[in-house]
Amino acid sequence: MKEIFINDFNENIDLVVTRVKALLINSKNEILLEENNNTYQFPGGHLKDNETIEECLQREIKEETGIDLTINSKPFLKITCFYKNYFNTGKNVKSIIYYYDIYSDKMPNFEETNYDDLEIQTDFNLLYLRLKDLKSFLIQSKEDGTTNENIANEMLLALDTYLTRKEKKMKILVTGGLGFIGSHTCVELLNNNYEVVVIDNLSNSKIDVVDKIKTITNKSLTFYNEDVCNEEKLEEIFSKEKIDAVIHFAGYKAVGESVKEPIMYYENNLISTLKLLKVMKKYNCKNFVFSSSATVYGSPKSLPIKEDFPLKTTNPYGTTKLMIENILKDLEASDKDFSIAILRYFNPIGAHKSGLLGENPKGIPNNLMPYIVRVANKELDILSIFGNDYDTVDGTGVRDYIHVVDLAKGHLKAIEKVARDKGLFTYNLGTGKGYSVLELVNTFMKVNNVDVPYKIVDRRPGDIASCYADATKAYEELGWKAELGIEEMCRDAYNFIKTNK
Ligand code: UFG
Repeated sequence: MKEIFINDFNENIDLVVTRVKALLINSKNEILLEENNNTYQFPGGHLKDNETIEECLQREIKEETGIDLTINSKPFLKITCFYKNYFNTGKNVKSIIYYYDIYSDKMPNFEETNYDDLEIQTDFNLLYLRLKDLKSFLIQSKEDGTTNENIANEMLLALDTYLTRKEKKMKILVTGGLGFIGSHTCVELLNNNYEVVVIDNLSNSKIDVVDKIKTITNKSLTFYNEDVCNEEKLEEIFSKEKIDAVIHFAGYKAVGESVKEPIMYYENNLISTLKLLKVMKKYNCKNFVFSSSATVYGSPKSLPIKEDFPLKTTNPYGTTKLMIENILKDLEASDKDFSIAILRYFNPIGAHKSGLLGENPKGIPNNLMPYIVRVANKELDILSIFGNDYDTVDGTGVRDYIHVVDLAKGHLKAIEKVARDKGLFTYNLGTGKGYSVLELVNTFMKVNNVDVPYKIVDRRPGDIASCYADATKAYEELGWKAELGIEEMCRDAYNFIKTNK
């Protein structure tokens, strides 16, 4: 059975402790209390208002046995808590065993714990760790004591991640960090105590995003108004900042424009990436997360799309993404110190719930959600739906829309992965669910109580009928999955445009 060091759970989580076993040993290794196969069966777990699990145990142990943990100094307490529902996720964990060594004369005072320092985010909920007074931690999923490997592995991954980050506060360079996905990723990085350096040339973003990120996080970042194609500037930044890892968003991204201006797309997207990788190698910064796209799958042979599907692009923008993926594969093969995560996004929409960050394309939007919000906001008259004769639920195109905040969180998981493991890893970031254009428009109207007039027009050249992800690889290897649904995406997207009217 795997043992990891951990203790204490967030009492705010709706845990129901149904049974507790305790083995109390004093500092001389004398057993204070034992029963029933070396453990004392203790009913436990009837949390009173404002009582932590530990206070509850302390009180109930005293009620049951007369033993006062505050008097019997330095007991080693082994507790098995049987939780009805593990972190409210419906996960079928029956018990979690945790131990602690109590170095002080009293039970640890959890109220005084500096949770900020110890907080980690797991994919299912918050789990708090206290490293200084923990002993060991076992996870059992079944009454017979066997472990659910998946849960154990998730916990181990979470702990590993936490330790990696705790050991060293990483400094992350975010190129294109003021853009739609970049800005949300900066927020998540800062909220998780990373240091953030942004390079952005403001070609498709605004400088006030810097302040908005600071307002949301109450933390600062370092901003360089520079072009990633400028090798000299990159060198200056790398020599000054001591970057640990790079998330590379910067690049042109409009499909239609790329068809009209292929040279501009190849020049900008490829040169910037090559310069960046060259400078990274020179400064021995070898952790890289790349912003790729589901567009590299072209017209998929079947659905849902897995990472090992054939790759084929249908426009210069998509080809730049695929070419960069290939460059990264060659780089990783040539230098095994590199650790690279390629993230293939499906259709990011939504906005930060504060209404401060969101998607704000210049000119007439090409993509569906930015168009919908402008029609809803009466800045544009009517939405054109490109075709209703596809082989889909209602004839309109089906896509895997993902909330940008979920997507941003995926980048943190990718950073943790590249900090932990060497190699090249590719992940789909999507929800795994497809919605049609009409489904999205109707949901938008319903949740926001607003009208979005539309008309059906011809298909848009180059569009495919359906596209949605198989996102299980990201869940299994990164512990990441999308949490927010289509309603939240519609609500937050509209909230952003209303706030920024
Ligand atoms: N659509 C309309 N009307 C519009 C805009 C879009 O009906 O005004 C439809 C499209 O036909 C499609 C769906 O809405 O069925 C989504 O279209 P988007 O333009 O929002 O997104 P795409 O799926 O075409 O492309 C997006 C990104 C690409 C990325 C791709 C990855 O724009 O950069 O997802 O799958 F490569």
